[in-house]
Amino acid sequence: MALSIIGAHIGYLRYVSTHGGGRREHLIYKNLRNMSEKRTIRIGLLGFGVVGQGVWKNIEKNRIALEYRLGAQLDITEVVVKNLGREREVVIPPKSISDDARRVVDNPDIDIVCELMGGKGEALELTRRALEQGKIVVTANKALICEHGEELFEIARQKGGHYFYEASVAGGIPIIKTIREALVANRFKLIFGILNGTSNYILTRMEREGLSFEATLGDARKLGYVEADEALDLDGIDAAHKAVILAYLAHGKWVRLDEIICEGIREITGEDIEIAAQLGYKIKLLAVIARDFEANKLSVRLHPALISKKEVIAGVDEVYNGVSVTGDVVGTTVLIGRGAGQDATSSSVISDIADAVFMLQGAPAPVISEEDEATYQKLADGLELADKASLKGRYYFRIHVRDEEGVLAKISEIMAKGHISFATVNQKELEDGTAKIMVTTHITDEASVMQVKTALSEQSAVIGRPVSFRIFDPNTQA
Ligand code: HSE
Repeated sequence: MALSIIGAHIGYLRYVSTHGGGRREHLIYKNLRNMSEKRTIRIGLLGFGVVGQGVWKNIEKNRIALEYRLGAQLDITEVVVKNLGREREVVIPPKSISDDARRVVDNPDIDIVCELMGGKGEALELTRRALEQGKIVVTANKALICEHGEELFEIARQKGGHYFYEASVAGGIPIIKTIREALVANRFKLIFGILNGTSNYILTRMEREGLSFEATLGDARKLGYVEADEALDLDGIDAAHKAVILAYLAHGKWVRLDEIICEGIREITGEDIEIAAQLGYKIKLLAVIARDFEANKLSVRLHPALISKKEVIAGVDEVYNGVSVTGDVVGTTVLIGRGAGQDATSSSVISDIADAVFMLQGAPAPVISEEDEATYQKLADGLELADKASLKGRYYFRIHVRDEEGVLAKISEIMAKGHISFATVNQKELEDGTAKIMVTTHITDEASVMQVKTALSEQSAVIGRPVSFRIFDPNTQA
């Protein structure tokens, strides 16, 4: 019997066998993963800090398994850094490293550009340039997507490239892929969770060890958990960036940071955590993306909230992140994992590299994606942001007062005038003749809370402006 190959095609070979004058045509399906002719995919890294080195290290660590799964060889061909002289944990061949971004962005041999430099200036310019050339860009840069995503996804769509961003939200948790692909059958009434590890670490230690905010922040700084710009972690901006990205992914609508409630953890004290615990709550910094499909309103917000200890998300402690996704088909799914750090974040970057490799080998772009802007616009058609003032829920107040006769009565009168009804009241006497009154309320709205806080702070017996936190109940959100 003689065999001769008569054609090679993606995925199979055609061949004929001849035997005793007979001739038969056959197909052999190629096991691409075992073929020695695997395509080499060339990757360029812009930035070689914690995440960049993690990507290199973890591709090397699991190279055999990864290349088997992807059916391609991975070559990190170029690495671009700002400072060539800096000592790095991961040592790479000198020919691969330079300080010239053009060797990645303008290099026709580079198939995938990974922007891992962070920031918005140069990172924006280089991402634009790579996408303009139709390249696939992978990023972990949440601030850049939040502020310039609309433009960057549009360039990717027009030029036939792609912009992947799994590592931008919740570190190693595959939340982007989960919403985009695994939960593609759903529309999302509620997505909420903990998206900032540093603030979660601070709140966890305050709760467990009774430490003050300042003391815990000091430790978080020593451990290198706090961003160089501390406001990103402490004022909720980092988590708000991530909430904006999830809102776009799930609802096709870009929301600006200045349009949403964004409050951090600086006002939370040990006594708030203690009273919350007595009432069956924990205090967490929550991102909430809630859609009311009937009214076609979207609420995107980021703020500390009391949440029942019975909720899975309330049990997400330390530097962990957790996201609860409620879809109209699947119900509620909760993902918990490491929201930051070298290995967790590089796991997500490599997951995007894998999707990019499949695309480069002919697979279609991911299912619900920025590729199909028209569908996205339809999803968001007529969708409006809910008015912040109309946000409804229960609230917690901490009111610092002079410990005098009639003060509680006065507070009750002001609350009643504002149509806010008390659910619980706790008082803590202090040695200096003042007291802290902690109140939880029945359901009210944001506008009433603001008005009552102002009225309370105008009372001579009230010291400073009362502090309030929302009480978050996932079952009553819309
Ligand atoms: N500062 C961020 C956090 C890093 O603490 O979660 C990961 O985005």
